[in-house]
Amino acid sequence: MNTVTLPLEIFLHIFLYLSIEDILALRQTCKDFQAMTQSRSVWSLLYQTYVLEQDIPTPQISNERPIESMAAHDLEGMTIRSLRLRNKWTSAFPLAARKTTIMSQPTTDGNHLPRVIGLHLLPGHGARWLISVHALHIGGQVVVFTVRNWDLLANPPIQTSCLTSHAFSGLAINAQAEQPFVLAVQRPHLEIYSMDAEGILELEKTFPDHRRRLLAFAGSTVVFTANNNGSLGIMNVDDPATEASLFNPANPQPDECHSVFVHADFLMALRGKTFEIYDLFIFRNADPELGEPQRTLEAVACHKWQWRLDSGCLVPQVSHSAARHNSLPPIYILARFGSWFPWPVNILHHIQLAPNPAYNNSLVVSQTNLPYIMPPAIIQTIASPIRLFSITHMVLGQYGSAVWIDTHTEDYYAPDCGQRLAGYCLKHFPDDSDIGASEIQQTTVASTMFDLNEQDTWVRLAIDEAEGRLVTGHSNGKITIYDYA
Ligand SMILES: *[C@@H]1O[C@H](CO)[C@@H](O)[C@H](O)[C@H]1NC(C)=O
Ligand SMILES: *[C@@H]1O[C@H](CO)[C@@H](O)[C@H](O)[C@H]1NC(C)=O
Repeated sequence: MNTVTLPLEIFLHIFLYLSIEDILALRQTCKDFQAMTQSRSVWSLLYQTYVLEQDIPTPQISNERPIESMAAHDLEGMTIRSLRLRNKWTSAFPLAARKTTIMSQPTTDGNHLPRVIGLHLLPGHGARWLISVHALHIGGQVVVFTVRNWDLLANPPIQTSCLTSHAFSGLAINAQAEQPFVLAVQRPHLEIYSMDAEGILELEKTFPDHRRRLLAFAGSTVVFTANNNGSLGIMNVDDPATEASLFNPANPQPDECHSVFVHADFLMALRGKTFEIYDLFIFRNADPELGEPQRTLEAVACHKWQWRLDSGCLVPQVSHSAARHNSLPPIYILARFGSWFPWPVNILHHIQLAPNPAYNNSLVVSQTNLPYIMPPAIIQTIASPIRLFSITHMVLGQYGSAVWIDTHTEDYYAPDCGQRLAGYCLKHFPDDSDIGASEIQQTTVASTMFDLNEQDTWVRLAIDEAEGRLVTGHSNGKITIYDYA
């Protein structure tokens, strides 16, 4: 019987019931199936259905070419690469395809190693550039800070830039990858850098002053803690006269802000006591010619946490459906609450902000026109045991992966030693429609164990979920890069 006489549309429907392996097996059976399973319409449908609509990242995608212009062969490769990486990344014990180590040079006397205090993969560029920040302590004092840029395409990775200083109060990577400025650093002046094709950081702008701490950088906007009156500062680096302060009179709190998301129209701040939303209309439309006095913007929405947040990150998620409908993406928050007691809290919280369907983006953000539904909904909790005084860190990817360091190592090492690098895909939450119910739904456990470290030296993490790359920074200056793609 000649099955292949059925129209292609019918096969397209049938293929959606098959796995990619089945389709590749079918290819081997006869010439007609071979031709059909190599057609562009098949792979365009499969890529759309299994990858894009599932919000699964594609590693090594060339951003220059639109998907519409890609050949069947490219789409097939992208589909297979994406699914293979996702399956590995979310498996119980993923094995890195490559594990690379960068060692720091000890000081000339050989006794001191510069501890890693910051670690970031530059967004875009296929996770090629790694920024590390090191602090060299001698006799309990930090004597020198270094900011280094590493080219991970080279094997072994090479250092392409190194900035040295005696002061440091924050570094922020530009969240908008396509911008000319790649990072901002406060050491002690606020400096804005671009990067050339060889990875050399070039100083573009310097703003003298202040005793403030840098928090975030997005496009040309920097956010920092202004001082101890609890306000945040915001400034356009192309137009510093527009500087404004963000203040929440209902909840003044000292210098404690874990994560900030800067949108063109509004700003969200994940702080120790509160979650706040600010309208940026006045800031964006300020007229520097008028020489207005410094503006203070007040929070338009504020949610007070039940307990103080000890640490947390807030990340807008890649959402195919939001992009298609030109709406705002969902925002995930990964947080650990503090406790009144001296011991740490052994759970992580997955908190979520759903876009507000009634939000009208041609009106200013206000109490009655909020971009997201308030309050943030606690979706689930994840067990993450940590010992007293142990160092933890957490990161959250744009495709829903939470990765963190904890000390759940009893099955492997003697009690009281060792660290675990664990992960969980927050999208595993079974029922997305339940958002708004502020009841904690369930406590889950890590689904992935990336690695263990008996030495307790991990202090920082960085992630690029699209490329399947994880990086750990150690207290002895070492950096370990895990590649899963
Ligand atoms: C807080 O301090 C900043 C920086 O000194 C200042 O610009 C702002 O007006 C202050 N805000 C309030 C509400 O006092
Ligand atoms: C949004 O606000 C604008 C300006 O007031 C109005 O013209 C428009 O109809 C509103 N859109 C919706 C969907 O309500």
